Amino acid sequence: MIKLKDVNFIRDNVKSHHEWMQNSLPMIASENITSPLAREMLATDFGHRYAEGDPGERYYEGCQYLDKVELRTQKLAKEIFNAPKSDVRPISGVMANMAAVFALTEPGDKVLALNVSDGAHISHSKHSVVGMHGLEVKEIPYNQNKLNINKEELKEKIKQEKPKLVILGASVFPFPHPVKEAAEAAEDLDTRILYDAAHVLGLIAGNKFQDPLSEGADVVTGSTHKTLPGPQGGITLHKEELDESIREKVFPAIHSNHHLNNLAALGITLAETKEFGNEYATQIVKNAKKLANELAKNNIDVLGNGEEYTRSHQILLDVSKEGGGAKIAQKMEDSNIIANKNLLPWDEENNTHQPSGIRLGVQELTRIGMKESEMKKVAEIISDIIKSNKSINKIKKEVKALKKDFNKIHYCYDGSMDAYQYPKLR
Ligand SMILES: Cc1ncc(COP(=O)(O)O)c(C=O)c1O
Repeated sequence: MIKLKDVNFIRDNVKSHHEWMQNSLPMIASENITSPLAREMLATDFGHRYAEGDPGERYYEGCQYLDKVELRTQKLAKEIFNAPKSDVRPISGVMANMAAVFALTEPGDKVLALNVSDGAHISHSKHSVVGMHGLEVKEIPYNQNKLNINKEELKEKIKQEKPKLVILGASVFPFPHPVKEAAEAAEDLDTRILYDAAHVLGLIAGNKFQDPLSEGADVVTGSTHKTLPGPQGGITLHKEELDESIREKVFPAIHSNHHLNNLAALGITLAETKEFGNEYATQIVKNAKKLANELAKNNIDVLGNGEEYTRSHQILLDVSKEGGGAKIAQKMEDSNIIANKNLLPWDEENNTHQPSGIRLGVQELTRIGMKESEMKKVAEIISDIIKSNKSINKIKKEVKALKKDFNKIHYCYDGSMDAYQYPKLR
């Protein structure tokens, strides 16, 4: 009886979450929703099995179908990203970064990475993968007014510091990074370039962002669930000569089993990306630009590079004059708009609980079919939350009314399922 109570507690809370998402605008820039066919894969027996090692050379029996799926997923990844090699086994973006960093450096080596307040993911910092591997971190020069890395200073710093690794790509990532310039500076040195595409992987797949591999990155890592609308997971795309060392870091160094139901869902997502990826990425970028422009028209402080606000799925707002990121993010959540407070480049790096900014992402709103006209409405609502005295209840009603017509999944083979539907298993 008590056990059933626990089961009901969990199911009821998950159901409540579904209902909330159904009535909300999810705008966390690192999230997305999977397609119905990918979700089917997540519920399969693949999720119960072990397949340690490489296809055809597993440590356990029972892998004949798992192997075929892994090889096809790998092939799709190489094809979509025009990558010589790919590892589709990492179970998250951090694990992909860990495998790449471990493969490319030795403890004591020097690494150039962005500060977290300039947009780096924590795994690029001394607090996580880079620090844990005993690397010496030097800061990548950042231009706060351009919201981007300072190209010339980066080139100089690479030549001067001669690091073993330069980590580009970021969590706050409105504009493409100077990969070409970094690769040129690294050309005659023993320096590798790692590009963390966690956020922009779907935009790269759809040819709507820079192509880091062709620009000279040695390894691209990523999460598979942000602008790429796949299951939670990680991926590496890399040069042929690095394949052996990266694969042996993925397994056996940092994983035993990878998550095979997620792998199958990733395969489906990549197949759908081949078909719909360009259309999806094109609309994401259009929506982000429109939302940013509309917010700016409403006198919201949208950050940009002086010429434009964004070229990705992300928009950054400075809300320090309106009480700060924590206050506004909470007000947004109370109004059923889910986004996160974020450090801005001039914030103290350890001030993560009281930062000045809000980071918005439009990839999920795009996935459920919203276009430019909805972005105008979303901008009005967010502007009201930030600037007006309108009651939260009234705003929440507007959010629900807007969301009502956008609960189907787009840019996939069968979008008839409700995006936030609770699984119908029983
Ligand atoms: C740039 C970047 N890299 C890595 C990660 C970590 O990805 P995961 O959550 O898949 O481990 C994130 C997460 O948001 C990220 O923004």
